[in-house]
Amino acid sequence: MKILQGIDLVKVERMEQGIRRSGKAFLNRVFSASEQAYCGSKRMKFEHYAARFAAKEAILKALKVHPKKGRRLSGIEVKHEATGKPFIALDKESRKQFCLPAQAQIELSIAHEREYAIATVVIVVP
Ligand SMILES: CC(C)(COP(=O)(O)OP(=O)(O)OC[C@H]1O[C@@H](n2cnc3c(N)ncnc32)[C@H](O)[C@@H]1OP(=O)(O)O)[C@@H](O)C(=O)NCCC(=O)NCCS
Repeated sequence: MKILQGIDLVKVERMEQGIRRSGKAFLNRVFSASEQAYCGSKRMKFEHYAARFAAKEAILKALKVHPKKGRRLSGIEVKHEATGKPFIALDKESRKQFCLPAQAQIELSIAHEREYAIATVVIVVP
């Protein structure tokens, strides 16, 4: 069994500046349509965007994948269980790219407040 872990901290203000500067093209490259709908519905939407960005960077760290500029991250999606607990869903392309076996279990935890958002990812590969 292998256990991989990653963590990332994102400044909310930087996320807001990035989104305002780069607009829809950036949003679409980094966030899925349902992530955009979720964050866009929130009062502190940039906190939620920053948390998702941290989650995507955290899984890349866990997988030791270099976070290249311009990488499409919308295939790494943060969703919620009925309880509100977040989890990461990978699309087919990302799963293939990361060579993750179907049985790999990915655990995500995120938190955010006005200035910062943080995410940790633990991957258990049986
Ligand atoms: C869920 C909870 C931990 C969120 O804490 P918070 O201080 O309000 O906010 P944080 O910034 O720390 O975390 C927010 C993130 O928590 C995550 N979250 C929400 N519900 C969650 C849950 N049930 N489990 C784990 N994570 C959860 C979400 O991903 C959320 O971010 P998002 O909306 O951008 O996806 C908090 O609302 C809480 O403690 N709820 C009560 C939990 C409970 O039922 N306790 C009783 C146990 S007996």
